[in-house]
Amino acid sequence: MPWTSKEYEMASTAGRGRPVTAPDIRARKGGEPLVMVTAHDAPSARIADAAGVDMILVGDSLAMVALGYDDTLQVTTEDMAHHIAAVARTKPHALVVGDLPWMSYHVSREETVRNAAALVRAGAGSVKLEGGRKRLDAIAAILDTEIPVMGHLGLTPQSIHAIGGFRVQGKQLDAARRIVDDAVALAEAGCFAIVLECVPDGVARMVTDAIEVPTIGIGAGRHCDGQVLVSADLLGFEDRIAPRFVRRYAELGREATEAVARFCADVRAGTFPSSEETYHMTDQMPEALQLYAGDGIEVTRTPAEAPANP
Ligand code: KIV
Repeated sequence: MPWTSKEYEMASTAGRGRPVTAPDIRARKGGEPLVMVTAHDAPSARIADAAGVDMILVGDSLAMVALGYDDTLQVTTEDMAHHIAAVARTKPHALVVGDLPWMSYHVSREETVRNAAALVRAGAGSVKLEGGRKRLDAIAAILDTEIPVMGHLGLTPQSIHAIGGFRVQGKQLDAARRIVDDAVALAEAGCFAIVLECVPDGVARMVTDAIEVPTIGIGAGRHCDGQVLVSADLLGFEDRIAPRFVRRYAELGREATEAVARFCADVRAGTFPSSEETYHMTDQMPEALQLYAGDGIEVTRTPAEAPANP
């Protein structure tokens, strides 16, 4: 059922106490399922936070859903920091998780730490990186600087060329075992949560049972401690790819196209703007001038223009 404007206003303004932290998320293992969605700008962050998510992931899926690339390999630490800052400026209650992009944690401990710090300085409360045991060094270096780390196993889009495409991982016994062993190693190394992407639900269940930190699934079935979706998918902005694990809760892409098409039609028919949508010389002049009253522009009103009860 759609929210009333009262419900929307309450969700947006509710005092929900201090912002969620990585230890809060860690402590929710086995409790009420955790919810994470992606956001990459201030409006999408406000929507996610007002809806009550626990974590906002500024994911490197940014590359594909917002920047027009075909894979996630194209975004840089600077790109990620730019979008994390936009999300963080909304001061969300949810924990902001900043994705470390490809090549930001592969070269050296120094670069890894510098890049993780750049995301935290931009406003992230934690960082996420992809990969199993071969990332333990990078994880240790980041944790050593007191930055919480979320792991990411299964389908790891930054390894797209190595794994040969976007496909379900862990279908064979040895591959499933590797994922479980990687998860145990990441949890023991100190990751506060682990994303499991595109693995059979039986594998997700084994991992969830094997580790003491929450698993957050995407295409990993129900047996995880939480779920994450890319918001462009769940809101129906993205219909070029339709993975089976996406449930679309809205069709905003179609609605937005229809809305812009109606605007085109109104402009071309000469019915936009109407008189009510227009400033007229006499009574609305002060309001029109006020719109442009930036630094150094004084808007003076004649006594007749001044409001009766300013
Ligand atoms: O970048 C991203 O959006 C992600 C999610 C798919 C988990 O990593």
